[in-house]
Amino acid sequence: MALREVRTEGDPVLTKECKKITKMTPRTEELIDDMLETMYEYNGCGLAASQVGILRQLVVIDVDDGNQYVLINPEIVEKSGEETDYEGCLSVPGMRGKVTRAGKVKVRALDRSMEPIEIEAEGLLARCLQHEIDHIHGHLYTELVEGELLSADEMPEEEEPEEFLPESGEEA
Ligand code: NI
Repeated sequence: MALREVRTEGDPVLTKECKKITKMTPRTEELIDDMLETMYEYNGCGLAASQVGILRQLVVIDVDDGNQYVLINPEIVEKSGEETDYEGCLSVPGMRGKVTRAGKVKVRALDRSMEPIEIEAEGLLARCLQHEIDHIHGHLYTELVEGELLSADEMPEEEEPEEFLPESGEEA
């Protein structure tokens, strides 16, 4: 396992559509392990392969709910409701912004054994899924931010969710 370099906003790789994965290979296995290590190292709650420069439809997610997700070719098949909250991204380090997303989503994907899985999510997991799936289609949350993009120390104290604190927080 090895840490991968996280690409930051302005790198054209982050704006590209990612290709579907059709079979598991040792190289993809290694990429998955490296992405998990990189996500945990930088306290992210999710990471998409494009963020480490690989244009494949692969994301890893861990929102500290006791589950670790490795999702291949993930797709949102249902969404409902609306929720606005602060979001961050490892590719936009140190910044936060308010984004409105669906409150609940149903996602279909393949797991790392290439078996189909379905996830029904709400709250932070639903937000993270939408954020990561945007990455695989070349989109950053900064396109959706309402109002100003804030640095962590500009965040209004009472609105700062613990998950998004700069030192221990989540960036995706
Ligand atoms: Ni992100």
